[in-house]
Amino acid sequence: MTATQPSTAAPISVLFVCLGNICRSPMAEGVFRSLTTLTPQIGLIDSCGTGAYHASEPPDARTMTTLEDNEIMGYTHGARKVRVDDFEKFDYVLAMDGQNLRDLRGLRERVVFAKKGKGEGWGGEEGGTEKEKKLGKVMLFGDFGGRKGEEVVDPYYGGGEGFEVAFEQMVRFSKGFLGKVLGQRREGSEKED
Ligand code: 4NP
Repeated sequence: MTATQPSTAAPISVLFVCLGNICRSPMAEGVFRSLTTLTPQIGLIDSCGTGAYHASEPPDARTMTTLEDNEIMGYTHGARKVRVDDFEKFDYVLAMDGQNLRDLRGLRERVVFAKKGKGEGWGGEEGGTEKEKKLGKVMLFGDFGGRKGEEVVDPYYGGGEGFEVAFEQMVRFSKGFLGKVLGQRREGSEKED
């Protein structure tokens, strides 16, 4: 492929996940959206929670204030719980903490188990494995920040400072993630040349 030809690879879709989907994951989504407005390699972006405690509610006011204090304006979101089809829709499912990560991995395993039980090309070891690989990758968002295993501590029960700490992490993790996945994509397209 020449430098003038755009990549034909499908855009990368990203889902951010915390517990309530009102503090951390919407902040991650707002930050990530603001960093990728001119990045056509990134497609669908969304956030959700492993719990449904705040379904349909807007983000916590402290998340919105933190975004706005950092000139990220106009972000809107209604909280929702993670769904089975999220693993089919999103290439990356990024957890904020270790508990979110375990919950998402458990859910993904149950999705695979249910699909294998139904057949539909998932039954055979080979076909099933290939299809499973195409499901979204469940990863800790903090693994992209330079310190493996770094979690975003839930700021919900604390003061405003926790939201500022989380904001710095979201920017650092987003930049690390973009560097990594866009770099991988470039390497992939160079191999196509
Ligand atoms: P989040 O924070 O997971 O970052 O959205 C939380 C917000 C609310 C609750 C838990 C976590 N809650 O249990 O109400």
